[in-house]
Amino acid sequence: MTGAPIVARTSSAEETRRLAAALAGELAAGDLLLLVGALGTGKTTFTQGLARGLGVTDPVTSPTFTLVRAYRCAAGSVRTLLHADLYRLDRLQDVVDLGLGEMVEDDSVAVVEWGDVAASVFGPETLTVELAAGPPSGGVDEERTVTLRLDGTWAPRRSSLTARLGPWTDAAAAGRRRREA
Ligand SMILES: Nc1ncnc2c1ncn2[C@@H]1O[C@H](COP(=O)(O)OP(=O)(O)OP(=O)(O)O)[C@@H](O)[C@H]1O
Ligand SMILES: [Mg+2]
Repeated sequence: MTGAPIVARTSSAEETRRLAAALAGELAAGDLLLLVGALGTGKTTFTQGLARGLGVTDPVTSPTFTLVRAYRCAAGSVRTLLHADLYRLDRLQDVVDLGLGEMVEDDSVAVVEWGDVAASVFGPETLTVELAAGPPSGGVDEERTVTLRLDGTWAPRRSSLTARLGPWTDAAAAGRRRREA
């Protein structure tokens, strides 16, 4: 069962990285994150924050031409961050051949840009993070809405995840607006 999504907002690339770094604290080996959203909405930026949160020191760049990159994580139970980008895969079979599902072993976490095209291959044990531009405010084009859908093993982690993302969720933003008013 999938409950209501968690909705957060950011207003800069660095804020999206900070949100993702906070989320990284929730990750355990074997976790699979699917990143969805239009071109340039911040999927790679989000992954950079995730990497920061996992103690990756190598710079994280778009894996568009390599399909999947592996980054060594500095500390904690997660040893490797696998970063894949399925944008250029136009056949589902390519995803199956890539074997990413099997690559997510005991000590690694995988994050997949354009993961929605392969959701059926990965199965239901996923956290889906959707990035969308906006809402627009006064011509600022750096705002993003980040929507998290928790499926399978993720569902019981809702309250913990909500707490970690508190600074960026709607309720927190509404409270901030009320205090500032
Ligand atoms: N709030 C924000 N969150 C994330 N990125 C932002 C934000 N505001 C501005 N940006 C900018 O938007 C761009 C996002 O690029 P990025 O490569 O992360 O997107 P992407 O979704 O991975 O793109 P692609 O679909 O090509 O893989 C960057 O230039 C980043 O600086
Ligand atoms: Mg990208």
